[in-house]
Amino acid sequence: MEIRRVGVVGCGLMGSGIAQVAAQAGLTTVVLEASPALLEAGLGRIRKFLDGGVAKGKVTPADRDAVLHRITGATDAAEVRDCDVVIEAVTESLKVKRDVFALVQSHLKPEGILASNTSSLSITEMAAATARPGRFLGLHFFNPVPLMKLVEVVRTLQTEAGVEEAGVAFVRKLGKTPIRTSDRTGFIVNRLLVPYILDAIRAFEEGVGSVRDIDHGMTLGCGYPMGPLTLNDLVGLDTTLSIAEIMFDEFKEKRFAPPALMKRMVTAGFLGRKSGRGFYDYSVEPPRPNDFLAGRPDAGPAGRGEA
Ligand code: CAA
Repeated sequence: MEIRRVGVVGCGLMGSGIAQVAAQAGLTTVVLEASPALLEAGLGRIRKFLDGGVAKGKVTPADRDAVLHRITGATDAAEVRDCDVVIEAVTESLKVKRDVFALVQSHLKPEGILASNTSSLSITEMAAATARPGRFLGLHFFNPVPLMKLVEVVRTLQTEAGVEEAGVAFVRKLGKTPIRTSDRTGFIVNRLLVPYILDAIRAFEEGVGSVRDIDHGMTLGCGYPMGPLTLNDLVGLDTTLSIAEIMFDEFKEKRFAPPALMKRMVTAGFLGRKSGRGFYDYSVEPPRPNDFLAGRPDAGPAGRGEA
């Protein structure tokens, strides 16, 4: 089954990116949101990214216009009826996602594939709650979606072989590289990435190094594009916390346990870039380590946040 028409539910950070790359690959794309205001904000995000591409000389104005033309925004779930695949990218709540799939499957043609962009919830639990568990996949994209080349294709015990292959071919059509994984919490990437980020926070908590020095350690010492604390700010501390809690619940291993500092930061609203402050303060350019971290008594002299 070839995927030509794509539905995306949720036009937030991930959903808008997925809709954008589908349309950039020449696919007709419908993106569904709960309200006209959320839809406008999501479509605005796509427009802004494409305008940035034009300014950088990566996208022609004609291509930008063609991409935007291929995307239809909708608030009525019936609009996805003719899609070959519908990918949900809504909030990380099993209940919310199940409700979305119940709504979508009541409109979607019988052969249409359902997919979730979840980073940590069980694909099997979502699939089992639908009327088409054999036609259900995980398609896990990475942030920022238009720039990151990877998508994890997640099968369950019930996924039909042709459906996994259709998912793999779809990812290639988007110009991205698929990797196949089974439905274990965190899949491949977060199983490796999350303990690494949590360890960076523990290192900071123990006063091993400042925010900047920990990040420089991994960018300049290991060639990573971003340090772990900068990356955590990009992903969102609330998101990392929720993934860590789900992974800890599944594996009961200490390496997945969220550090106390991260829990407190989330409670305090220091969520990273999305709230303006996380390990760094984004109200200044370039961002500098968040002031409150400098005063941490348990961070030692390295906690001042400067090298
Ligand atoms: N349109 C088109 N192209 C654009 C663009 C735009 N609006 N904005 C940037 N680009 C292009 C740039 O021109 C550049 O292209 P070249 O490499 O050809 O020069 C490229 O994209 C990189 O852009 P920048 O130079 O502006 O930025 P950068 O070099 O600092 O890279 C980054 C930015 C790609 C985000 C990089 O820092 C990176 O890879 N960071 C790590 C991100 C990461 O690990 N993400 C995964 C998070 S985990 C997750 O998502 C999963 C989960 O479940 C939590």
